[in-house]
Amino acid sequence: MKSLRLCGSNQPNQPFPNDARRMSKNPMRESILHLVREFARQQLAPATFVPGRDMVPPAGRVLDPEAYVALVNAALDGWLTTGRFNEEFERLIAQRIGVKKALTTNSGSSANLLALSALTSPMLGERALKPGDEVITAAAGFPTTINPILQNGLTPVFVDSELPSYNPTTQAIGAAIGPRTRAIMLAHALGNPFRADEIRTLADRHGLWLIEDCCDAFGSTLHGRSVGSFGHLGTLSFYPAHHITTGEGGAVFTDDPLLARIVESFRDWGRDCYCAPGKDNTCGKRFDWQLGDLPCGYDHKYTYSHAGYNLKITDMQAALGVAQMARLNDFIAARRANFLHLRERLRDCEEFLVLPEATAASDPSWFGFLLTLRENAPCSRVDLLRYLDQHKIGTRLLFAGNVTRQPYMKGRHFRASGDLAVANVITERSFWIGVYPGLTTEMLDYAADRIREFLGVGF
Ligand SMILES: Cc1ncc(COP(=O)(O)O)c(C=O)c1O
Repeated sequence: MKSLRLCGSNQPNQPFPNDARRMSKNPMRESILHLVREFARQQLAPATFVPGRDMVPPAGRVLDPEAYVALVNAALDGWLTTGRFNEEFERLIAQRIGVKKALTTNSGSSANLLALSALTSPMLGERALKPGDEVITAAAGFPTTINPILQNGLTPVFVDSELPSYNPTTQAIGAAIGPRTRAIMLAHALGNPFRADEIRTLADRHGLWLIEDCCDAFGSTLHGRSVGSFGHLGTLSFYPAHHITTGEGGAVFTDDPLLARIVESFRDWGRDCYCAPGKDNTCGKRFDWQLGDLPCGYDHKYTYSHAGYNLKITDMQAALGVAQMARLNDFIAARRANFLHLRERLRDCEEFLVLPEATAASDPSWFGFLLTLRENAPCSRVDLLRYLDQHKIGTRLLFAGNVTRQPYMKGRHFRASGDLAVANVITERSFWIGVYPGLTTEMLDYAADRIREFLGVGF
């Protein structure tokens, strides 16, 4: 039989085993997966930690044999692009956050880009963001929380954060609202929630959109409710440092079906059609639409309602995500336990260090253990970080610090609300060490002791 060659970027170009054959139990597949599981068990066998010789990383992936099996199982499907595993992964993410819809993306940065770009859609009518509109955001944080504002021709309005939560207060956000303000886009700082409940109320009062960047906060709760469920849109990152990983990856989620449809369009080339890869005519009107200035019946698959991207993930990534979701609760519990352990071990350093504190009414799923050297500390941050580096203890900064001081911000148009004094303190004196589930008590103690030693506390 002659093979059917279909044109178009999302069409298979050769005969493909049907779904039933792909997914059916196959003894050869079972023995391959058995071997993979055994291989992973050997690879992942824990090594003995030798203090001073082995790294205490600030973050990292935590894989188990099932993660390897999931990756290979999806690869054996031969489907490659988003497919059955992605459907399941998106369902699990939405369920976990407590919203109607999650859409996976190839990174947390892409998720942020999609979330903000969605708000520029003409489908939102009067509420669509227009060039020159303002978006309030924190000055201190990760650059790709902020960059989508610039990339969409909007103006960032930077607000200061407070210590020891490292988030802006609701009052600071309120004070930054001006006549052109249309949205608020904030990250939960290193897993510690900002007051998303209060800020959503504030946003509603002023007719503003709220995007919650939860890239560092998967599992954090406020009043027992998952962060990300307060805003109109939320985002996650699955880069290896994060709470779960898909290698590269992220997600946008929302409770609003219209926003979900817009995000999906921006993610999938900007198309109006919402067929899953390999599917046709989901809307049942593929050749019946008349949109834009196109002729009537122009294939809906090739009709574009947005200037979109392609930011989808592969089904191997999604399968890994599904395997990681099964471990999310354990990961969160380990992060919380490690955080408490470090806090206890560093309690008597408070004279020199600002210790992190959870926001009122919150239960953070901590990304790291954030510290700020007080002005009276006996050393500079760079000296302390060098010392920790020499002792193989990994450290990180609160990302870009005060982003207005970064080289790429030179000459850009923005507004600063207030003097950003705390963002400057964060830039000059804050850093964090790890709490991720791959760290043992021995590693945490070693890291805490080296900090205490350098500060001359208890030594
Ligand atoms: C708060 C925040 N937002 C967004 C991102 C971007 O995520 P990704 O690295 O997956 O692009 C990060 C990365 O760590 C982050 O910390």
